[in-house]
Amino acid sequence: MSENKHVKHILIIHGPNLNLLGIREPEVYGVMTLDELNREIERYVQDKNVTLRFFQSNHEGTLIDCIHENRTWAHGIIINPGALTHYSYALRDAIAAVGIPTVEVHLSDIQKREDFRKISVIQPVCIRQIGGLGKESYFEGIEILLKQGIG
Ligand code: DQA
Repeated sequence: MSENKHVKHILIIHGPNLNLLGIREPEVYGVMTLDELNREIERYVQDKNVTLRFFQSNHEGTLIDCIHENRTWAHGIIINPGALTHYSYALRDAIAAVGIPTVEVHLSDIQKREDFRKISVIQPVCIRQIGGLGKESYFEGIEILLKQGIG
C-alpha cells in the first residue's frame, strides 16, 4: 500500500541514559524498559494515522545529527533530552535550526527534583514541556503535536 500523504511523521528522540530505563533508578523512572516504552508509544498511535521513528543516543552530537537528518521527514519531534535538557545549547540550536514543532518530555517531574533540573535550555524552542507523567508524557506530547496540525 502506498503511504497516505496525510500521515504525520513523528520522530521520538531519547537522550543520554534512557537506554538504561528499567534498570536505572527505577524509583524515579519506573521499571519499563526503553523497548517497552517505544512499543507502548507505537500502540498509542495505532489508530492515529501517524508514522514514528525512534532514536536514542548517549551522545549530544549524534542526537543533533539525528535531528538534521530527519529535518525533511519529520513533521513533529518528541524529545526527552535527558540531562542535556539542563545545559545543551547545541541541542537547543539544532531544534531551532530545523524549525520542526517539538515537544520536550520527561518521565519524572523535573520541577520537583534537584534545583539544576528545574532549568531547561530546550524549553524556549519547544511548543510545550511535559513532565512527571511517565509514558503518558510522551502520549500527551503526541496529542499536542497532532492538535497543532503538523504535516
Ligand atoms: C529526565 C529528567 C532529566 O533531569 C534526567 O537527566 C534524565 C531523565 C526524565 O525523563 O525525567 O535523564 O529527562
